[in-house]
This record gives sequence, structure tokens and C-alpha cells, in this order.
Amino acid sequence: MTPRLVTPLLVTCLRQRFSLRWHGIHGASHWARVRWNGLALSERTGANRTVVELFAMVHDVCRDNDSHDPLHGARAAQFLQELRGSVISLSDTEAKLLAYACTHHSDGHTEADVTVQTCWDADRLDLGRVGIRPQPRYLCTAAAKQADFLEHAFQRSRGRRNAS
Ligand SMILES: [Fe+2]
Repeated sequence: MTPRLVTPLLVTCLRQRFSLRWHGIHGASHWARVRWNGLALSERTGANRTVVELFAMVHDVCRDNDSHDPLHGARAAQFLQELRGSVISLSDTEAKLLAYACTHHSDGHTEADVTVQTCWDADRLDLGRVGIRPQPRYLCTAAAKQADFLEHAFQRSRGRRNAS
């Protein structure tokens, strides 16, 4: 059985580190939808699920504000280094992919390892929460660009509870 990644200890560390509104646009409900998007995408892309799941939980946790904060991804990568070994367990390869995914997730890139691409798509598919419909040209993977997948993610991001 795969060990649980999102442990109570990890959630405690995230709560302690996160300085914005827990239910705000970059808070826990966003992380949960990014996690859902990423795990669903990973079934189609073959992405590393450990990296995808931890990306969802950590990529925005070091934000200083809800608008322009270009270094928050790099801070998240540093924070992951602090958690590694005591709170989370990662191979060296996973740690490198996760650090890259976090550091560059808001830079607009689309080319990267497929696990990194899956992380970025999972995040971008949740833009409906701020009124933006994700555009396929800004997504990385064919799975995320698929019209029905994108539409379901968009509806979920807007709080349409029947979206599956
Ligand atoms: Fe995000």
C-alpha cells in the first residue's frame, strides 16, 4: 500500500507556513482542486503521483500576497527542502522535479518533463476561480487540453459542484 503523503504533520506545517487566507484564492481549496486535477491527469500522462500531489499542497504555500509575488515558487522549493526527510519522503529524482515544478510554475513555460508539465497543468486548470478560462495554448499536456477534461476542471474551479 502506498504511504499517505498528506499527513496531519504536513498539514500542520503548511498551516504554520501559510500567511494568507486559508480559504482564499491561493489557499487550501485551490490546493485540493490542483491535487484532484493532477492525480486525474497523471493517470493519462504517467506523471509521478508523489510529485504531483506534493506540488498541489506546497506550490503556493509561501506566497506573501495574492497578486504579484514572482519568487513564491522558489520559496516553496526551499520550504520543501526543509520538510524533506522529517515531514515528507522523496527520492532525489522526485525532489529535483518537484523543486523545478514549484520554482517555475508561474513563469508561463510549457516545455518540461511530463511530471512537471502535469503539475503546471493541474494548477492552470484551476484558473476559473479567478474568472479566467484556461486556454489550451497555455497548457502543456494533451490530456489537459482535451475539451471535456478542461471544461470539467473549469466548472469545478468556479464552484459548480456537479462537475466531476
Ligand atoms: Fe496555484
